[in-house]
Parts: sequence; structure tokens; C-alpha cells
Amino acid sequence: MLCCRFAPPEAGFEGAFTVDASRVTFGRGCLAEVGDRAAAYGIKRVALFTDRRIVGLDHYRRVERSLRAAGLDVVTFADVHVEPTDASFQEAARFAKEARPDGYVSIGGGSVIDTCKAANLYATHPAPFEAYVNAPVGEGRAVPGGLAPHIACPTTSGTGSEVTGIAIFDWVAHKAKTGIASIHLRPTEALVDPDVTATLPRTVVAASGMDVLCHALESFTARPFTVRPSPARPTARPMSQGRNPWSDIGCREALSLLGRYLVRAVEDDRDMEAREAVMWAATLAGIAFGNAGVHVPHAMSYAVAGLAEEVGYHAPDYPRDEPLVPHGISVVVNAPAVFRKTGPSSPDRHIEAARLLGVRERTIPDDGAGETLADRLVELLRVLGLPNGVGGIGFSAAQVPALAAGTSLQTRLLTNAPIPTPPDLVEELFRGALTYW
Ligand SMILES: [Fe+2]
Repeated sequence: MLCCRFAPPEAGFEGAFTVDASRVTFGRGCLAEVGDRAAAYGIKRVALFTDRRIVGLDHYRRVERSLRAAGLDVVTFADVHVEPTDASFQEAARFAKEARPDGYVSIGGGSVIDTCKAANLYATHPAPFEAYVNAPVGEGRAVPGGLAPHIACPTTSGTGSEVTGIAIFDWVAHKAKTGIASIHLRPTEALVDPDVTATLPRTVVAASGMDVLCHALESFTARPFTVRPSPARPTARPMSQGRNPWSDIGCREALSLLGRYLVRAVEDDRDMEAREAVMWAATLAGIAFGNAGVHVPHAMSYAVAGLAEEVGYHAPDYPRDEPLVPHGISVVVNAPAVFRKTGPSSPDRHIEAARLLGVRERTIPDDGAGETLADRLVELLRVLGLPNGVGGIGFSAAQVPALAAGTSLQTRLLTNAPIPTPPDLVEELFRGALTYW
């Protein structure tokens, strides 16, 4: 694909990429459309997934009212665990099997949407829990076919779960996060209503905004799709295809929006222009990474979050009943150390990303590309009041081997990196991520 600045593949490597996305409706007030949209799929009995905080909010009531006004029978599951576990996924699946809905609606953050995907999967295609979980932690069995219709309504501007076929959870016995990935998990529709962001607390906007930033940066710098071996069958092409001309479009626009609006969106909850822009960036970056895949910062994050209990970390504005590293924080604390190392793999892309995020230096040498992008990320961590590296969460050098071991389980993400990531490099990255200032 010389036309799109992707070198042509060698024999046996990919020469094509696939574009997938949920049907997306974006705009203030669009949550009120959910009833009509669900009814259009012929849904009569809908399982409505949410969590205990959101069930008390006006967004939830708007969705429930719209579903009932369309004549649907609504059964609610409000026990989604924030940062789901293998046990909480299975509890949700049990609910879905017993409730026997013919369609699903989820309203919440990534935890809610991911839990709804898993419940829909195991209710539609029952199997032992480990069957569909990514290898090597699970069996990595292919999902055999389509699921019931699922309309996802995100309430944070972050995870992009509403447009991806990935469901992430913490497998407690393995002390690591992993997931289930299949195109069949992708919600049928996403209703993205920026009005929901008006009530989000500062730290939630900062953490989820940094997640968006990392989705865009990692997809933009992932290995090109043309260096991945061709799949055995065309339909076996993975969702983590590597960067490609389609994902680049969303990444560039998302980075540009975040460069202009993220700090404003965090600092002023009345700045709806900024919060709407970040929500749109989250949607674009979600579609991009759903087609390109993320890489090392996310791989490291699953080890960081999986070991949260050991350091007893609590983030402001998040539930305090148990230690929890919010997903966006667990990702972004690794990012500067990673981009310092990946800079030489595509200096032009690292420089372009830094510029989109607001770096104004006249000239940036190729050998300073990774450093420049890393410095801008560190600046954002400080401005947004986020932890100073994994050390700021409470980890020390003594825990680096455990963190690296948890990361090495994330083969789906590590193989999407633009550089080889042997275990000693992952340890080096964690040492580099301990403190930034
Ligand atoms: Fe993420």
C-alpha cells in the first residue's frame, strides 16, 4: 500500500486489512433513542446492565423510561463489579441465562459494557468459562457465532468498549487481567451521548481521557498490518491487525482533539464543548484500536491492575471498598517509558503524535522522537494530577519481576508492539516507569 505510506508486504504477509465497527449514534440527548432502536431489532424482553452508582443517576432512568415507552419488558442487572473479575462475569452470565432476554442494553463505563458482552456470550453459546478466554491464560476457543443484539451506552469518555469486540476482566487466581476477544462480542449499536459526561468527577475524566490517549497512541505506533503473517483463513484475521490506513484516521483526529480539549475537560465540569470533544475522541480512538489493537502500555497495565491489592491503591473519585487502579491510570503510568523505547521504530509517527498533543518545538530530531513524546505525556500526568509512574501507585523496584511476569501473559498485545518485547526489556520498561519526576 504505497499510496498510504505502508510498504508493500513480503510473500506470506498481510496485504489487506478489514474495517469493522459498531453502528454508532453520537449526539447530546441520543440516549432517549434506545427504546425505539431496541424495538427495531424485535427485542421483547431486554436485560439492562448497569452498576450500583449509575442505577441512581438520571441517565439510567432515561434509558429505562425509553425502553418501557417502546413496550419492552425490562429486567435489570445492577450488580456489575467495577473492574470485573472471573467471578463477576460468571455471576452476570448466570443472571442472563435465568432471565432469558432476547436482547441487551448496557449503560455504564467499560466494566458494565464488558460484563454485558460476557453475559450475552455465555448465555448464547454456553461453555466452560475458560473456553473463550484469550490464550495462554484461557483456551482461546473461537466464539462459534453471533450473539443477541446489544446496544451499549457509555457513561465515561474512555474505554471505547462500546465499539470493540473485547471484554476485559481480572482473573483473580492468575493475579492478572486478561480478556475475551471476538468480533461477535462487538455491540450491535453504540449510543454515545455526551450529556452523560456532565456529572463525571475530575479524576474519572482524567483517567478515562488518558486511556483514550493511549488507545490512539498505541494504535498509531503499533506494528504495521503488513508485517503480520497472513492468517490461515481470511476470516481468521485478528482484530489486532496492527496500524493501518483506517485506524490512522481515527488516531490522528483523536490525538488532535485531546491535545486541544483534554485538560479543559478535566479542569472545568461546565465546559461541555471540551467534554463533548473528548467523548468524540474516545469514540474515534475506540474504533481505531478495535481495528488496529493496542500494545505494550496496555499489556503492562493488566499486570499493574492485577496487583493493585498488594499496594492498596485507591484513586480519588472511585469506589473505596477495595483497592483499585482505574484502567486509564494503570495504562498511562507505563506509557512514557514505553514510547521512549519505541521512538526509533517510527520517529515520524512519534513526532507527529507529540505535535498533535501540543508540542510546539520547531525542530525535533528523529533520535529525540520517543523522548519528546514521553516528555509531553509526563507533563500531562503532572497537569492532570495523576500518579508519578507505577511508583506513584505504590509499586517499588522489588515488585518489577512480578509486574513483568504478569505482562508476559499478554501475548495478544505484546505481539502487536512495534519492537520485540523479551522479558528483560519488559523489566527495563517497568524500572523506567517507576518515577518520572
Ligand atoms: Fe484501554
